[in-house]
Amino acid sequence: MASNIIDWTDSWQDKLDIKSKYESAEAISDRFSKEVAEGKLPFCSMPYMAELLYDLEGLESYVKGFEHMLLLGIGGSALGARALQKAFFSAQDEPCHEGPWLWIGDNVCAKTLESYLEKLPLEKTLVAVVSKSGGTIETISQYLLIRKKMKQNMGDKWNRNFLFVTDKNNGFLREQADELSIKTLEVPDNLGGRYSILSAVGLLPAMFMGIDYRSLVEGASDILASLASQELSSETLLKHPSYKLACWNAALMESGYNELIFFSYIPQWACFGQWFAQLWAESLGKEGKGSQPIPAVGATDQHSVNQMFLDGPRNKGCLFLTCDSLTDGEKFVEDIPDKFSYIKGKNFGELIHAEGLGTKMALSANSVPLVEIKMAESSEECAGRMMGLLMATTIFTGWLMGINPVDQPAVELGKRLAKARLGAEGLQEEKNDLEAFLSVKREEQVF
Ligand code: PA5
Repeated sequence: MASNIIDWTDSWQDKLDIKSKYESAEAISDRFSKEVAEGKLPFCSMPYMAELLYDLEGLESYVKGFEHMLLLGIGGSALGARALQKAFFSAQDEPCHEGPWLWIGDNVCAKTLESYLEKLPLEKTLVAVVSKSGGTIETISQYLLIRKKMKQNMGDKWNRNFLFVTDKNNGFLREQADELSIKTLEVPDNLGGRYSILSAVGLLPAMFMGIDYRSLVEGASDILASLASQELSSETLLKHPSYKLACWNAALMESGYNELIFFSYIPQWACFGQWFAQLWAESLGKEGKGSQPIPAVGATDQHSVNQMFLDGPRNKGCLFLTCDSLTDGEKFVEDIPDKFSYIKGKNFGELIHAEGLGTKMALSANSVPLVEIKMAESSEECAGRMMGLLMATTIFTGWLMGINPVDQPAVELGKRLAKARLGAEGLQEEKNDLEAFLSVKREEQVF
């Protein structure tokens, strides 16, 4: 297989203060080794993987015995599955698909849930409830309603149609699993949702869809191996692309670039943009620092948000994802009107490459510092490499910024307020705040 390449030519590495970040390599390599040894970075060392692959193999015929998988999860418990689905199981979006089907319930949309309840053949549906904490209300509320319907339809055997992916010891789902004899797969300790795509969280749905999940793991393990090694030195770190990417990003932020475009010119990988956006935003948006990730896909977004990228505020860096070996597609041979004669004799697939090149050059010409990540293939193995690269980059960027990239304290406030609004016990302070907030006379305008 040809190698993946990172092209730094248009990154402005000489104009940005990247080199000063290299000075942190020794401290960061020591910290990384220490945290790997303490089990704090399982996305990198994957100590759980052998057992998980064994468990997945054991579950394969049971899981694939269902026609539908309904995955209930939100945030990091759903975005990876959707990215894998769109990248490697495009069959479901193609005409005349006859199954299997993966549905992802990652919102609180009464209408969508109603359609699942009414239209899914429940006896042929495996409900995969994915929640590390086992208590996320958006996920649990869907579970409770589907469980009720499943019980009505399936009687005593309803629990056969559920599989939980959750913490080994704690949380409501773990209690339910123990009490109701529901099969489970574990989310390892210290593996937060946005770093969990290569655990049961992403690999269970991948296996259901027939995606080569072992290659995803191999790709990621390969790129992360030198970082996971106890011999990680500052020299090794400095050579690792994730560290250089992190230094580039930290330098960008310091220079006022507070937005980061993730522009995919691999159309079927568009949802990796949402996966990356969550990884980046939830990990790095802290203490007034960070850069807002903006997922975009070529060529579609050339006709929507690209104008802003090119001529809006000059505050954007760009990760630009390409792959030279995408499907060639049909050839334009005859019946080409004169005004389009430039595509005669070309394959449809050539358009995306030409448009990618055009956009990349235009971004550069408009002062957008850009790093191109050229994937050798749009395969599972290459995707695994990309995910490993970006997860490590995120950790290093956070450390260079002086923030904690594995927590997300700010999002808790909204969750507590919503619970208080729904009448959850305790939360008196939030209830008082709600009362005060709601008692303010609103300034409203009819339109
Ligand atoms: O990345 C994260 O940690 C979050 O987005 C979580 O994945 C999300 O909040 C869902 O949490 P849980 O898996 O505990 O239901």
